[in-house]
Amino acid sequence: MKLKNKDLLGLENLDKKEIQLIMDTAGPFKEIFTRSIKKVPALRGRTVVLLFYEPSTRTKNSFELAAKRLSADTLNVPVSTSSVVKGESLIDTVKTIEAMKADFVIIRHGMAGAAEIVSRAIKSSVINAGDGAHEHPTQGLLDLFTIREKKGKIKGLKVTIIGDILHSRVARSNIWGLKKMGAEVRVCAPATLIPKEIETMGVEVFYNLNKALKDTDVIYTLRIQLERQKEHLLPSLREYTEFYGVTNERLKYAKEDCLVMHPGPMNRGVEIFGEVADGKRSVILDQVTNGIAIRMAVLYLLAGNKQMNNRD
Ligand code: CP
Repeated sequence: MKLKNKDLLGLENLDKKEIQLIMDTAGPFKEIFTRSIKKVPALRGRTVVLLFYEPSTRTKNSFELAAKRLSADTLNVPVSTSSVVKGESLIDTVKTIEAMKADFVIIRHGMAGAAEIVSRAIKSSVINAGDGAHEHPTQGLLDLFTIREKKGKIKGLKVTIIGDILHSRVARSNIWGLKKMGAEVRVCAPATLIPKEIETMGVEVFYNLNKALKDTDVIYTLRIQLERQKEHLLPSLREYTEFYGVTNERLKYAKEDCLVMHPGPMNRGVEIFGEVADGKRSVILDQVTNGIAIRMAVLYLLAGNKQMNNRD
């Protein structure tokens, strides 16, 4: 089985079998991490370009390591010192990269839909590493993989996503993926951080965290995007923390064996407390490790895609 498209733009566009295929492919790649030589030749001769218009620690480094572990060549385009600062358009930048014969362009951009626009403009395979508040598909995939690894299944689990749903591409990708894999998804936040019509995605909305956590198998805490607080969607961070911060005390409302997840970067003492982030239920660092395996799987599967190989 293969992925249908040359690009990975979001989990909305993937079907359940494709999500399963990516997770099943990531498993054996993760085993490579235990070897002294953490490298296979699968993408030898291919070129992966990283084009990040927004900051990133996890996603960018994870993609770079994933590409290197598959023996691909990687090129980081430092946007702040590139011709972008001279006013070059996104399309001109990616067409220039394509002319250098890049096989993959991995893009993070502040505008929702940027990855899709790029995917239409070039024949290289485009991977969305986060576009505005729209999607962050490899984050969603690594989260699904981590849940399946720890719980043995996804179907039937109750997953509660807490926090800034309104601005969160991570929440959107997780909701698409979790629903396709048969999980029951709850979202919990102050009303100002819940997008209108979120129920159309098949989730249940809660405003009270203790109620949302009842019988929860997975607590997924989102970063409060401090840079957005100029919009005054919260009365104060102190109040947010009081009502929605995940503490050990709050964990008592969830199942005893619930997982605690966070996409990072964390605001400790705001949406999650150190006692929880570093506690026995936390799988936050497993998410980071699994991210490399998932990104290896995505690169490997897209490289085998017919459309990509017939593009010259
Ligand atoms: N989870 C995530 O996207 O983290 P970065 O912003 O560090 O890539």
